[in-house]
Amino acid sequence: MLDWYDTHKRSMPWRETDDPYRIWVSEIMLQQTRVDTVRDYYHRFLEAFPTVEALADADRDTVLKHWEGLGFYARARHLHTAAQHVVDEHDGTVPSTMDAIKDLKGVGPYTAAAVLSIAYRKPHAVLDGNVTRVLSRVFAVDEDATTSAAEGHLRDLANELLDPDRPGDFNQAMMELGALVCTPRTPHCDRCPLNAVCRAHDAGTEEDYPITPES
Ligand code: ADE
Repeated sequence: MLDWYDTHKRSMPWRETDDPYRIWVSEIMLQQTRVDTVRDYYHRFLEAFPTVEALADADRDTVLKHWEGLGFYARARHLHTAAQHVVDEHDGTVPSTMDAIKDLKGVGPYTAAAVLSIAYRKPHAVLDGNVTRVLSRVFAVDEDATTSAAEGHLRDLANELLDPDRPGDFNQAMMELGALVCTPRTPHCDRCPLNAVCRAHDAGTEEDYPITPES
């Protein structure tokens, strides 16, 4: 996975930094918005608010103004509140532990694992839609992937596979594989680094996974 990622990863501005604040902002934006849309907003937002202090000090309307067009404005309000919490309670350093980072407004299991692994190299696997699809296919998970039981199993699998030396790159490799190769329809299995070990590919049933209540 890491070899594949090193060769095939798309260039993204938040992959050029190790500033936890910037990585956090990018992951909040990427929660509900496509990579290509996020790029422009990311640059403009960070030009206006280059540090967590700058964001915390800004007024709410200015923050929302810079979010205009990205939608889901609760994300911007939560990010602003969380930035103030980081400044007031953590001396302006984005928390580096699961317990502390999960206390930030707007930071759920996905964002927490993404920021901890990418910015701090902590071994937390992310589980988003792309990762769920990849794992469901590779392991032919015959369980409704939308249930919390299946989510738990998939998270366990992801954590077992996680590369402890490069957890952030491993997570981004899984997301990237799901976005570029292991796509929902007509996946490009001929280009997949996991095709030799993929149970769904072996059985020719790639598109049956992940299992959902509709399938
Ligand atoms: N989706 C959300 N965060 C991402 C990241 N860091 N790389 C690729 N896709 C993503």
